[in-house]
This record gives sequence, C-alpha cells and structure tokens, in this order.
Amino acid sequence: MLHRSFLSSCASLLLALALLLAPAARAGEAATPALIPLPARLQLQHGSFTVDASTPVVLADHDASTRQTADYLIDLVARTRGLHLHIAGDGQAAPAIVLQRDPQAPVAQAEGYALDVTPQGIRIAARDDAGLFHGAVTLYQLLTPDAKQGAVEVPALSIRDWPRFAWRGLMLDSARHFQSVAEVEKLIDQMAQLKLDVLHWHLTDDQGWRIQIKRYPELTKIGAWRTPPGAGHDGEPQRYGGFYTQEQIRAVVAYATARHVTIVPELDMPGHAQAAAASYPQLGVTGRRPQVSADSGVNPWLYNVDDDTFTFIDHVLDEVMALFPSQYIHVGGDEAIKDQWQASPAVQAKMRALGISSEDALQGWFIGRIGQYLEKHGRKLIGWDEILEGDNLPADTTVMSWRGIDGAIKAALLGHDVVMSPSPDLYFDHVQGDLADEYAGRLGVESLRDVYGFQAVPDVLNATQARHVLGVQANVWTEHLPTMAHVEHAVFPRLDALAEVAWSPPAANDWHGFLVRLPAQLARYRAQHLDYADSAFAVDIRVDRNVALATGKATVTLSDQTGFGAIHYTLDGSTPTPASPRYEAPFNVGLPATVRAASFAADGNALAAPRERALDRAALLSLPGTALANCPGSDFRLRVQPTPDATSTQPVYAVNVFDTCQLFPPTLMDGVAAIHVDAVRLPRNFALAHEQKLVVSRPHSTPFGELVVHADRCDGPVLASMPLPDPAHAPRTFKLDAKLPAQSGEHGLCLVYTAPIDGPLYALGRVSLETGQP
Ligand code: ACM
Repeated sequence: MLHRSFLSSCASLLLALALLLAPAARAGEAATPALIPLPARLQLQHGSFTVDASTPVVLADHDASTRQTADYLIDLVARTRGLHLHIAGDGQAAPAIVLQRDPQAPVAQAEGYALDVTPQGIRIAARDDAGLFHGAVTLYQLLTPDAKQGAVEVPALSIRDWPRFAWRGLMLDSARHFQSVAEVEKLIDQMAQLKLDVLHWHLTDDQGWRIQIKRYPELTKIGAWRTPPGAGHDGEPQRYGGFYTQEQIRAVVAYATARHVTIVPELDMPGHAQAAAASYPQLGVTGRRPQVSADSGVNPWLYNVDDDTFTFIDHVLDEVMALFPSQYIHVGGDEAIKDQWQASPAVQAKMRALGISSEDALQGWFIGRIGQYLEKHGRKLIGWDEILEGDNLPADTTVMSWRGIDGAIKAALLGHDVVMSPSPDLYFDHVQGDLADEYAGRLGVESLRDVYGFQAVPDVLNATQARHVLGVQANVWTEHLPTMAHVEHAVFPRLDALAEVAWSPPAANDWHGFLVRLPAQLARYRAQHLDYADSAFAVDIRVDRNVALATGKATVTLSDQTGFGAIHYTLDGSTPTPASPRYEAPFNVGLPATVRAASFAADGNALAAPRERALDRAALLSLPGTALANCPGSDFRLRVQPTPDATSTQPVYAVNVFDTCQLFPPTLMDGVAAIHVDAVRLPRNFALAHEQKLVVSRPHSTPFGELVVHADRCDGPVLASMPLPDPAHAPRTFKLDAKLPAQSGEHGLCLVYTAPIDGPLYALGRVSLETGQP
C-alpha cells in the first residue's frame, strides 16, 4: 500500500502545480519526454527511476483487465527494447512498476489515468480499464525514449492525462484492396499505441464484399472477387479479392477490444452496392447482374427499395451486430448517384406510394428505415454526410463529415453528433509529399504539418454546438494502396499528428515540440518493422536547370517539408552522415556533379533516407512524368501504379484521368535536337459517373492516337507527333522518339496524348530532351 499513500499525499499538490506542457516544452525542450500524443498535463520533477529486467510489475488490483494490460506492456517492451519485465508474485516489494484500477485515482475523466515516476518507482492508476491501458502505453513510450536496448532511466514526473475527444478514429478501406487479418491487427495495435480508439472498417463497396454473411453465401463467393483490368495478360492475375470469415472477424474484434479499440463496421448503402448486386441481382435496381467493379470512383449501382431488399439488409445487419459489439453501425450513404432510381418504374412507383417527391428524400427514407432497425436492436446509425440530404434525418443520427466540414457544421447546428473526417484534410489516400519517389495516391499533398494543424472544431460552432463534435477520424481509402506497405506509408507518421489532434488539449498544440518528440516514435516504428513514410524529412534537391545548362554551374538548394533536422550532403556519391558537410545556404557546384543529401535528428539518426540528384546536361534535360505539371484547366491528379493491383511501390505515374496533357517546364533549348519519351499504357479503370463528360477527347490521325508535342503552349505549333503502338500487341511500357526542330532560348513543351478516351490511359514515365539524333 506504499504506492497508494504516496499517490494520495502527492495527488492534490501535483494537480495544483500541474502545467500545460506546451510552455514547459519550450523552456526545457531537451528534457521533454518523447510522448505522442502529448498528455493533458505533465510535470517534470527531480530525479529518475531506472527500469531494468529485475524491476517487477505489480498488479495492485488482481483484475483480469489489469493483467491483460500488464501483459500487453511487457510484451511490447520486450519486442521493442529487448527488456524482459515480469509480473511480480504476491508479496514482492518495491521498487516496482505498479498498475492499479482505482476508483480514487486522481483523474476522474473517462479513459484518463495518472502516471507518476519517482526515484522509488512507477505507478499508474486509473478509474477505468481503458484509462489504465492508456497509462501503460504512455509508460511504454517512456521506456523507449531512443533506439537503444535494455535498461532505461526514466525521468521523475507526474502525468495527469485524459482525451480531448471520445472518437479518435481511423477508417480502413478493405474493399478496394484487401488486407490480411494480421495486417489489420498490426494497424489496430499501432492505433492503440497512439490512444486512438475507433477503427471504422469499410467492409463493402463496389469493388468487393469482404465480410462473410452466413445467410447469403454468394456475397463472398461472388462479391469478394473481381477480375482485374487486363486479367490474364502480361502476368496479370485472373482475379483479385478475399474476405474475412466470421471467425476471423471475431478474432479481430477481440484483438481490438483487448487494446480498447472499438471496431465500427461499415456496410455502404444505398450506393456503392455493385458487389452486392453482382452477388444477388435481385437487390439491384435493374435486375441485371453486374460484375464486381474493377473501376474505382463512383459507380451507379444502388440497392432497390423493395421490402425484400430491406429484409436482406436486416438479416445482414443481424449477423453484423452479432459480430461487432460497437454502439455505432456505419451504413455509408455516400456518393449514391440516383440515375438508376430515376430510371426505374418500380422505384418511381414506390416513391409515389410513399408520397416521396425526390430521390434524395427517398435516400433519407431508406437510411431512416435502417436507422429504426438499428435502434430497435440498441444500436446507433452513423453515416457519411450525404445522409443529411433527405432533410428527414432522426435527431439521434450521427453524421460523419467528409465533403469538407460543411456537413459537420450543418449537422451540429441541427443537433446531430458529428465526426470530423473531411476530405482532403484527413484523407490519408492523399500523398504526404510530391518528390519523384513518393508512393501512389491522390494529389494534392496533405503533409504531416497539414494534419497536425487540423482544426477539429469549426470556429462557427458555439460551445453548445461544439459539444456535438464527437471527435476526428482519418480515412485511408485504398484504391491506390494495394499492399500494407502502401497503407503504412500513407498512415504513418500522419497518424501521430492525428493522435495529437484527437487526444491532446488544443492549447498544447505545438508543431515544433511535436517534431522534437517524433524521432523517438520513428525509432519505435523501426523496432516494430513498420513502413512509415519519410516524406516530411526527405530532402528536395533543387537547382535552376536553365542557369546550370547555360553556365555549366549549378546553385543547389536543399530543403525538406519541415525544416526541422540538420541537412548534410555529399558531392562524391557517398552516403551522407552527420559528419558530412552541413547545409547552411545554397552552394555552387560545377557540372557534372552528384548531390546526395539527408536530414538528421539531434541524436544523429537519419530522419529520412538519403535522396540523390545527378547534375549533368543529360540529367538536367530529363524529367520524370511526376515532375510535369497538369495542363491548365484541370487540377485532378493521381499517382498510380502500373496496374491497379501491382504490389511494388515503384514505379508510379502521374495521371489526370480527365485530360492526358502535361507541361515540360521552360528549358534552354539550344542544341536540343530530339525528344525521347518513356511512355506507359495504363488501364482506364476510373468510374467518373456524371463527371465523365469532363474527360477531354481530342482528334487523332493514327489508329491508336499519338503523343503530340506543342511548342510553349498547348495551342502552340506542333513540333512532333508520335503514333502510339497497338495496345493489343505492344508492351505496357514503350519508347517514343522524335526529332525536334532547332530552337534557341527557353521554351516549354506541352505534351498531349490524343488516344481515344474509351481505350487505355497513357502516362509519361520520363521525358528526355536530347542533343544527339533519335
Ligand atoms: C467518401 O469519401 N466517399 C466518403
């Protein structure tokens, strides 16, 4: 009982003295423990306590959940630090790590905990199981302040911590691409380590039905599998897919529950129903059986509104509710374009019978009906913000705002609870950076800092309305993320930034302090074999190409997104280290040269892999397609893989599915005699729905279209026109060459593919200007 008396004697004093960490962090930055998310209150004190393999872990309450938390902590510390702690037998004495569920713990908020480190030991106390778990995770971070192994000296401190929001979420899309059970669990484990508590699991969509429903076996026999574009050719597989059995789902739910993560399943309706209609055509509107879609985007397939279809959905929900104990069930509601309902006499007749005057109102009625069923079973409906459109949403329905934050504001003003997960701010399918080696994803860039700076509660909400904001959630859509390596790259370390938004008090928001705490977290990721992105710290090596081409000398500027670490570089091809020259200001090099650069944390560990740039005439005249801007008129831009299900992370190609036109930047053309293009043919597997009409179609004069090169502007004179090869026979990647007329001075080029828009999509792998003959 030593620890309890210690705690109660200190608690009130500590609470009185506790300060928000942010000011403290600035005053004594080096001493700030590398905790993410930052605790609500942290007070550093004098002294320290060293934890080594002989330090016992004492379970003060003999509670099964406390035991589970202790086992989790011990396992994690062993795996990452190589420090093997043990649970003490009865009667084992201090100094120790004590875990205790305690109704008197000095933090009353749900999920909160108190953690005290003194020279006599470490004590975590919480009033609920989740709080004790969060405290254990904080202790894990205290025990892993760096990449070293074994015993660790923990500074004396006092933490009083609780969450800002109850909903701290991540959505994983397992429909567009499928992750294994082990991969989903690895993600849940990382969420738990960041005190995130909701995995929103997107389980059904046009491209796949991923949850076994025993009453309807065709959903996974047919609906879980799709035929990739180009199946059977060029080594492409005949089918892509997978699903989770109910046994597997039970195991994942148990895994999450042990980590105090709730899984909210999503079954998308009434749209995104193509895989369901492929399995049971009678659920659809047309009666026809579609294929499970291999096209990402907005497909037109809706559920019909027959009573039998609601019976089907109710039966599915019965099985879903039996698997997932979560209070909330997500029913989608997004992107349900109404063409099929409009064209269907049966749907129109039903609308008349119900006295419903618009298809949007019919969607409202549809969602309302599902909501009643869930309510009858003690559950709550949550859906994407389109569920507001019918204007007849029951007040207790929760809205997930994704089309910006307007849906959240409207919903909160109407008295609905809301979860903030706006696109693009919290859409983790957007790339973290735009260097040539960034993985596939959507543009624009949503950087680590963008996520860190996300304002969770819109200013226009007053205090009462703001109470409707349950929390925040990032969404990892996987159209362009076929493997877990892609998912991890998209999620980390942006999830750290999200965790801080979701958990820490807004007054503690401190971007620089976050960066100071991040390297320790990156070391934890390396210890857990996690493929986090280094985009925030990757060095961009820039020169003025035209000055270099004109003078044979380049002024090199090095930067990264954050400006946080120390950038070191080499010019001899060797790998930069902290002993290499430190970048202070732009420097000059004579051509040819090779610049390699990396950014380093204060402890000398690299924050990112080195990046390299060759500087010679050929390299200056050659650019990857990802470095060529879109032509004016359409901002849409993706980085895509050679095929949608390709499993490597490189190469990636920049595409604008609306307009295959890109700009080669103004370049000193003196001596340039030819253009060489590494071109690629890609599947055009994008469902654009009503936006299809925006796709630019251009005349072509050879059967498969051409790559046309215009001088300066896209309406400038044609310098070259290179016919595309027959897609039925040419390899996926091919070369195009043409002579260019002599030009002098700086000129840009506009490169336009004129291929028919009902055929494959073409992209630029690399464009090289050459001085020799093609
Ligand atoms: C969504 O991004 N369609 C919710």
